Amino acid sequence: MRRILLFVLPILIIVSAAFTIFGIFQVRFEEEKLLDDLQRKSRIVAESMDIVVKQVLENNDLKTANYLVERFEARERLQGCVIYNKEGQIIAITKRFTDWENKPKPYIQEVLNNKTARGELENFKDYTVYSYILPITDSKEQVLGLVEVINDTSYVFTRIADLWKRLSITLIVIVITIIIISIFLHRQIFVLPIERLTEWFNRFQKGETDAKHPIKEKGELGKLASEVEQVALSLRVARRTVSDEAAARFNKTEMWTEAKLRDLIHAKLGDNAFFVVSNREPYMHVVDEVLGFVECIRPASGVVTAIHPILAACGGTWIAHGGGSADKQFVNSKDKLGVPPENNQYILKRIWLSKAEEQGYYYGFSNEGLWPLCHNTHTRPIFRESDWQTYKEVNQKFAKSILEELPKKNPFVFIQDYHFTLLPKMIKEKRPEAIVALFWHIPWPTPESFSVCPYQEEILSGMLGCDLIGFHVQSHCNNFLDTANRLLESRVDTEKFSVVRFGKETFVRAFPISIDYHIGKEQKIDHEQLEKIRKELKLEGKIVGVGVDRIDYTKGIAEKLMAVDRFLEKYPQYKNHFIFIQIGAPSRTHIKRYHDLIAEIDELVDRINWKHQDGEWKPIVYLKRHFSPEEIIPYYALSDLCIVSSLHDGMNLVAKEYVANKKDLSGILILSRFTGAARELTDAIQINPYSIEEFSDSIKFAVEMPLEEKKRRMENMQNIISENNIYRWAGSIITELTALKKI
Ligand code: F6P
Repeated sequence: MRRILLFVLPILIIVSAAFTIFGIFQVRFEEEKLLDDLQRKSRIVAESMDIVVKQVLENNDLKTANYLVERFEARERLQGCVIYNKEGQIIAITKRFTDWENKPKPYIQEVLNNKTARGELENFKDYTVYSYILPITDSKEQVLGLVEVINDTSYVFTRIADLWKRLSITLIVIVITIIIISIFLHRQIFVLPIERLTEWFNRFQKGETDAKHPIKEKGELGKLASEVEQVALSLRVARRTVSDEAAARFNKTEMWTEAKLRDLIHAKLGDNAFFVVSNREPYMHVVDEVLGFVECIRPASGVVTAIHPILAACGGTWIAHGGGSADKQFVNSKDKLGVPPENNQYILKRIWLSKAEEQGYYYGFSNEGLWPLCHNTHTRPIFRESDWQTYKEVNQKFAKSILEELPKKNPFVFIQDYHFTLLPKMIKEKRPEAIVALFWHIPWPTPESFSVCPYQEEILSGMLGCDLIGFHVQSHCNNFLDTANRLLESRVDTEKFSVVRFGKETFVRAFPISIDYHIGKEQKIDHEQLEKIRKELKLEGKIVGVGVDRIDYTKGIAEKLMAVDRFLEKYPQYKNHFIFIQIGAPSRTHIKRYHDLIAEIDELVDRINWKHQDGEWKPIVYLKRHFSPEEIIPYYALSDLCIVSSLHDGMNLVAKEYVANKKDLSGILILSRFTGAARELTDAIQINPYSIEEFSDSIKFAVEMPLEEKKRRMENMQNIISENNIYRWAGSIITELTALKKI
C-alpha cells in the first residue's frame, strides 16, 4: 500500500493542483461573464426608462414615477427601481424594496457630480445586489435626477456554486480513476511479476527443477529472473559435483571427521535439505541486564554442544524457540538469521512463543512433567491438563513452521528431545515421504515409571511417527521397546529392534552422543586468562577440582558438595591444599524446584565453606552464572580432577569435554555411573553419587593417583572420544536412516 501511495501521491497532487488552478480561472471567467450580463441588462432597463423618467422629473410627476417603479414588482430577477431627484433624494421606490431608502448611499452624490452611469455590487441586508444608476439629464446636460435599477444577484452565485460542484465531482472522478489505474498498473508491472518470481524462488528453494517451472518473465524483471536461473543452474551442478566427489571420498576415509560427515551427507542426502528441530537454540541474543547491551551467547545445553558442529559442517536449517530477550532484533522477515553470527555456516529459524506458551509447553509439561518422569531422581512429575494442551499447540506451531520450509524432495527432519514427542506424527501426516528421526537426549524410563503419564498413548503414538528413534544407550532403547509393547497397541520386532503400529515401522537404535573431539583437543588455551584465574582464586600450589553443570537436581550438585565436605572431614590433611570450583549455570529458574535448588546449593556452599575455612582458604569456589564454552577452557586446563556426579543423565557431555580438553593428560575424571557416558568412559573413576562415603574416598583416590596412571587413563578415554566423536554419532544416524529407507 505504501508503495502505491508513493507512486500515486505525486500524480494526484499534480493533477489536483492543475485542476484547482484551472477551476479558479474558469469560475472567475464565468463570474465576470455573468456580471457583465447583469450590467448589460440593467443598463438596457435603465436606458429604456430614460425618456419617461426625464418627463417625470421635469414635471415632478410623482404619480407616473410611482407607476414606473411599481412595474418592477412583477419582474423576477429585478429587485426594484428607485428614482432620485437632482438633490439625490428618493422620489419613488418599488414598494417591496422600501428598506433600500435606509441604506447609506455615498455613491449617489458621486454619480450626480460626475454625470456618468455606475454599476456595482452592493451589500444589502445579508445579501448582495447589483445596482445600476443612470443620470437623467436635460438637453443642456444638466442633471435632472437619477434612475437606479437593482438586480438580484443570487442566481450568479448559485451558478458559481454549481460550477464548483461540477468541477469537484470531475476532480473526484479523475482522482478515483487515477487510483484505480495505478493499482491496476502497479499490480501488473510490479506485484504479479514479483509474485511469480517469489513463487519460482520458493520452488527452487524446495528443490523443484526449473525445467518444469521455467521463469516466464519478460523485460527488466525477466533479465533479473534469467540471471537467477543461471545461478540456480550453476548451484545445482555444483551440488551434484560436490555430492559425487563426496561419495568418492566418503568410501575412502575411515576416521570420522567433519569432512567425512559432510561427504556422507552430500553423498547420501545429496540435494535433500537437512533440518534440525530443538527447543533450545544454538545462539541466543540477550540483553545484559547489568550493562544494558545485547550479547550473543551459546546456551549451556548438551543438544547445542552436539548438534552445532554437525550443522556447522554440513549446513542446513536449525529451527528452535527464539527465547533470547533480544532475539527478535536479529532475524530477517522470515525470522531467520545466519549463524555463527561472525561466520554464517547454517540458518537458524526462530519460532516465537508467548509467555503462556513457554510456561505450559516448556516449563510445565516438558520440564515439570516429562523431565522428572524420565530421570530417576525421585522428583515427582507434575502433569497439568492445561500444560498438556499448550504442549500440543506448540508442537503444532513447530510442525506448521517446519512444513513451510520442507522442500519437495526427500527432506530429512532431525528432531531433538522430549519437547517434541508429537511433532513426528504431525509432520508425517502432511509429508509421509519426509524422513523423520528423533533423538531422545535424556534417559527413557521403565514401562512402570512411564505408565504414570496420563498422556502416554498420544506421546508414544506421536513418537512412532518417526522412521528412527535414537537413544544414548541400549538400556534406554530396551525400556522404550518394552514401553511400546506394554502400553500401546503395537508390535515390537525384537530381531530388528523396531515397533510396528498400523503398518508403520519405527526403528529404535542406540547412538551414544559425543562432542567434536578435535575442537577440544586443538582448543587454544588463553594462558593470560588462566593465570588471572589462578591468581584471583588463589589456586597457586593447590590441588584443584572442577565441576561444570546446569543447576539441575539431576546433576547431583549437592551430593558433589557433600562429598567434598566429607573428603575434608575424613582427610583433613587436604585442608588448605584442595579447592573445588563449581561452575553452575542457572537454568529453568521459573520452576519452583529449580528455584529452591539454587537456594539449597547457596546454603550448602556457605555452610561447607564456613565449616572448613582457614584464613583466606575456603574449599569451595562457586561461580554461579552462564559461561561460554570458551570461558570454561581455562578451568579445565588448570584443574587436576573433574567431577560429574549426575543422579541420572542421558549422556553428560561435560565428562567428554573435560577429557578432550585435558591436552597434557594430567587430569582425572570422577564420573557418576548413572550417566550414559559411564558406559564408554570406563577409565574414569566411577562413583555412586548417593553414597557420600564412597564418593569422598574416590576424591582421595583421584587426588593421590600417580601421574602415570592418570595419563594412561586419560589417553584411553581420549582415544575413545576421538573415535566415537560427534561426527560418528551423526554419521551413524544418517547411515542407519539411509539404509533403512534405502535412499
Ligand atoms: O541434554 C538434555 C537437555 O534437556 C537438552 O535437551 C537441553 O538442551 C539441555 O538439557 C538444557 O536444558 P534447557 O534447554 O531446558 O536449558
